[in-house]
Amino acid sequence: MTTNLPVTTGRQLGRRSWAEPWKIKMVEPLRVTTAEERAQALDDAGYNTFLLRSDDVYIDLLTDSGTNAMSDRQWAGLLLGDEAYAGSRNFYELEDAVRTFYGYRHVLPTHQGRGAEHLISKVAIRPGQFVPGNMYFTTTRAHQELAGGIFEDVIVDAAHDPESELPFKGDVDISKLERLIARVGSDKIAYVSLAGTVNMAGGQPVSMACVRALRGLCDQYRIRLFLDATRMVENAFFIQEREAGYADKTIAEILKEFCSYTDGAWMSAKKDSLVNIGGWLALNDSDLFEEARNLVVVFEGLHTYGGLAGRDMQAMAIGISESVQDEQIRARIGQVRYLGDLLAASGVPFVRPVGGHAIFLDARRFYPHLSQDEFPAQALAAELYLDSGVRGMERGIVSAGRDPKTGEHQYPRLELTRLAIPRRVYTQAHMDIVAEAVQAVYARADSVKGLRMTYEPRHLRFFQARFDRL
Ligand SMILES: Cc1ncc(COP(=O)(O)O)c(C=O)c1O
Repeated sequence: MTTNLPVTTGRQLGRRSWAEPWKIKMVEPLRVTTAEERAQALDDAGYNTFLLRSDDVYIDLLTDSGTNAMSDRQWAGLLLGDEAYAGSRNFYELEDAVRTFYGYRHVLPTHQGRGAEHLISKVAIRPGQFVPGNMYFTTTRAHQELAGGIFEDVIVDAAHDPESELPFKGDVDISKLERLIARVGSDKIAYVSLAGTVNMAGGQPVSMACVRALRGLCDQYRIRLFLDATRMVENAFFIQEREAGYADKTIAEILKEFCSYTDGAWMSAKKDSLVNIGGWLALNDSDLFEEARNLVVVFEGLHTYGGLAGRDMQAMAIGISESVQDEQIRARIGQVRYLGDLLAASGVPFVRPVGGHAIFLDARRFYPHLSQDEFPAQALAAELYLDSGVRGMERGIVSAGRDPKTGEHQYPRLELTRLAIPRRVYTQAHMDIVAEAVQAVYARADSVKGLRMTYEPRHLRFFQARFDRL
């Protein structure tokens, strides 16, 4: 006998269901808007989801950055804030957590990731030097270029193909890096800029084999290897799942081994570390650290607070220890995959395999009738908001910006709309709503028109640009 009664996800898949390893203690009401209100809000925001007021958003998947729900231990930690200008107790707790879980020698707090990117770019790049990396990230490349560096993409080709199912699409293509070294000489390379779960490629991981090979090459040519550790815990999950020899290692062990092959790292703690603000720069080299520690007082604050309140450093220290717990990261990525599975079942095009922090809708395949100059991924983010109040963001031609030399648009192969999932914030029912909204937008994709840019800021234009309908 068939019934219309619901069946759990686990039963549908022939297994037992799993659930998040936490329960909810405090809630924040959500506002549902009307279609007319959303049309007005989007118009006022110049078709840029960054310019919407959050009160006009229902389910906010703009970013997983600083949007995490903190634990009761972290909230309790805020009350332990030692707001001394110098030598705050919380700084030493943070330093200890970074040393314990990431393994670096010297630690500087910064207000967020780009504060650390600024410092490392200033101390480690000489104007005219190259900075090879596994795909650009917006703020990382902006700081490298402001310091006079020239970014060179050395990621594997598959990273630019949304349909490739390669397990480690974030890997560096070592032969591309070797060719660059042969072309410009190793002294023209500032450092290798390696990011865990590559954001712009769809949250795709880097293998342990890759970082080990990079260490070997960098030692051979005396080049430094620095890590963007922002989502490195998520990266460790994929190594545990996919790379031979790591299934029985803990996330904490994998994270520490990975970092041990690098010379230092910068961190936006607003992602993996389950806080709303904070970052750090960590270096093993004492001389380089000395330079960065001197500069931090110019740009961020004293080296024992780096632009943060003591309480923020305390929350970060606790968040780091929570972030590496195996069951927390499994639930986090499990939720991203749940949304991916719902979309896959209805044939919606998105980047495969599902990455660590977000679903990246493939706007080229949503809107094959739009050229890249008509900003298809920006249009898709706008359509999704209009449909349901779900907010995502553009990760395509607008984010790629202009070539610093020619001033022309850079045309990335990936034209994506990102739905980033905040950690410990939304439920499975919210993911169902998002899936239905995406399916509805996909069903009427043919009728969507492109956009034109009406205002373009000079730096990181995707944050503040304005658009209008064509
Ligand atoms: C990979 C990566 N690196 C660096 C940053 C910059 O960090 P923040 O936003 O904390 O300045 C981000 C944030 O979006 C990121 O995703």
